Amino acid sequence: MQTKYIEFTSGDAPEFIEAAMALREGKLVAFPTETVYGLGANALDSEAVRSIYIAKGRPSDNPLIVHIADRDMLEPLVTEISPNALKLMSAYWPGPLTIILKKTDIVPDVTTGGLNTVAIRMPDNDIALELIRKAGVPVAAPSANRSGRPSPTMAKHVLEDLDGRISYIIDGGPCRVGVESTVVDMTSEPAVILRPGGITPRMIEQVIGRVELDRSILERKPVDRPRAPGMKYKHYAPKADVFVVSGEYGNIAEWLKKAVTDDENAGIKSVILAAKEHIREYGLKNAISYGSIENADEIASSIFRLFRECDRMGADRIYVEAIPKEGMGLAVMNRIEKAAGGKIIQAGE
Ligand code: TXA
Ligand code: MG
Repeated sequence: MQTKYIEFTSGDAPEFIEAAMALREGKLVAFPTETVYGLGANALDSEAVRSIYIAKGRPSDNPLIVHIADRDMLEPLVTEISPNALKLMSAYWPGPLTIILKKTDIVPDVTTGGLNTVAIRMPDNDIALELIRKAGVPVAAPSANRSGRPSPTMAKHVLEDLDGRISYIIDGGPCRVGVESTVVDMTSEPAVILRPGGITPRMIEQVIGRVELDRSILERKPVDRPRAPGMKYKHYAPKADVFVVSGEYGNIAEWLKKAVTDDENAGIKSVILAAKEHIREYGLKNAISYGSIENADEIASSIFRLFRECDRMGADRIYVEAIPKEGMGLAVMNRIEKAAGGKIIQAGE
């Protein structure tokens, strides 16, 4: 298959309209969102959705998020919308919040991995919204990476993973948020966050009161049967072995400096991903900045890109300095710990 790469210019450009029509007709189109690039298919077309799983190499029990451009698109997809769900939509749509509701029969089983619920989100990206509007159908879209790889935050990452496997890639520049949307299950009481993301637990609490965190978020190792099936897989991972190093900064720095020296002596190529404030401590040859320790948003927007860069450098090991699990830090640490697959070091213990 020839993948057509489109630099976005305008919603009226002939090639953009061609991609939107192809999407409606059952083809796969990768497109930018504010979080990460998505791999879109017509959510109501079982065949089209099935081809997403094939292109990504994704396990078919892992349900997809259905993207909509306006509220009118929502009604046919869900049986009811609770007052709290409505409040969240008003507060954070369009935005990085995915809401799980009970599905109607028009949503095919392949889209929801056989569940009777459906995950819905309205992305905060004009290109995504225009594409969905022009296609005129709700768009099922997982992150546009090969299954298990870091999510793509630039169109070239999509090309790396999916060239020749999908029909179109729309390049709309780098993604602003950089980690995937928050997934909140509104079919239970109280609501439960299944995946932390761009909308923090506090932001949700401010709108609907109490919300729980699923245990797959609180535990650092993969859990057996998480409620978001996607959270059980080793995920977001570069080819290198990832280690999270946490503890007090002094202990982290001491541990890391010894580790890179030991690795170097053993012929292992390791890279440290660290706060920009700490880079000089490790030496520029060993460490790359993921942004300021003061700014978890900045770290979120760079982390997946840096995982891919470490792969390109041929790293065998990546050590990542842990950050506090507060605000956006919760989502960032969730992705890093998943990438590490449980390899977490408590420096100083
Ligand atoms: O930011 C995002 O959400 C990106 C962009 C492209 O919109 N999409 C994304 O999709 O991250 P994906 O497929 O990589 O992750 C979807 C997550 C998975 O963990 C999946 O298990 C969960 O949402 N999920 C989807 N539908 C669900 C449902 N009905 N019940 C529970 N979890 C569900
Ligand atoms: Mg994904």
